[in-house]
Amino acid sequence: SLTTVHTVADLRATVADWRAQGLRVALVPTMGALHDGHISLTHLAREHADRVIVSIFVNPTQFGPNEDFGAYPRTLPDDQKLLDAAGVELCFAPSVDEMYPDGFATKVSVDGAMTNVLCGASRPGHFDGVAQIVTKLLLQSLPDCAIFGQKDYQQLMVIRRFAADLNIPVDIIGAKILREEDGLAMSSRNRYLLPDERAVAPTLNRVLADITAQAAKGAALAPLLAKGREDILAAGFAPIDYLEVRDAETLELMNDTVKKPARIFVAARLGKARLIDNHAIIPG
Ligand code: PAJ
Repeated sequence: SLTTVHTVADLRATVADWRAQGLRVALVPTMGALHDGHISLTHLAREHADRVIVSIFVNPTQFGPNEDFGAYPRTLPDDQKLLDAAGVELCFAPSVDEMYPDGFATKVSVDGAMTNVLCGASRPGHFDGVAQIVTKLLLQSLPDCAIFGQKDYQQLMVIRRFAADLNIPVDIIGAKILREEDGLAMSSRNRYLLPDERAVAPTLNRVLADITAQAAKGAALAPLLAKGREDILAAGFAPIDYLEVRDAETLELMNDTVKKPARIFVAARLGKARLIDNHAIIPG
């Protein structure tokens, strides 16, 4: 059954105990407000490890000054029930002071093409905050592997980058996007949506699927993206932060047609929620 710890010392003691028994350990970092998408990551973690840790920490350093840090849902008792039912062994739920004690002064910054685009352009500093907290979580628990969703595809790529660059001895594993029946990508922020907003939210996935089908057959991207923008705005989203096709590996922008593995990305605001989604585009 689930144990919850709140300090790095208790986390380390538990992991040391497992290590002494020769067990493999997986970490699933989250900010809580758990849904089936998060739970699917714990199932994938189970395929790779004997013991699964889920961290729950709403990380202040990855939120901008006008973002939803204060409003972000905090539902620890519900989260613990879901983790227990999913068979997770350990929940690590530290306080802000435990993670950022007085005198904390270290930044982790991933430079370049990968962090200045997409969510990095609309959320300055966001990926430095993610890199900082994920570095800490990986070093605190030193798991064999850590699982991240492709829902946050750019985040997954940034994490792969700094984990390799800093020689953090952990396998970074990507997990597919879990969706509601109507195609909406599951997200903790979906609970900000009012009923009529929730009804139009699947437009994002539909537009991405339509463009993906055409682009994979070699259609020119510009008219597809222009039409997609119109459809997203007509559904009531405003503003659209981006709707772009990029190289699946380097995240370089593709303007013309898709000739190598690509990814289409969208971020747009609907009421109080900023929703993101992406699809793979495989040419041919
Ligand atoms: P959070 O948004 O809680 O997401 C935790 C993990 O769940 C991330 O790896 C995310 O990609 C994955 N996830 C969310 N929705 C998903 C879905 N519908 N299908 C599959 N996976 C999904 O991402 C963060 O927290 C934070 O930035 C964090 C990495 C914990 C650092 O603070």
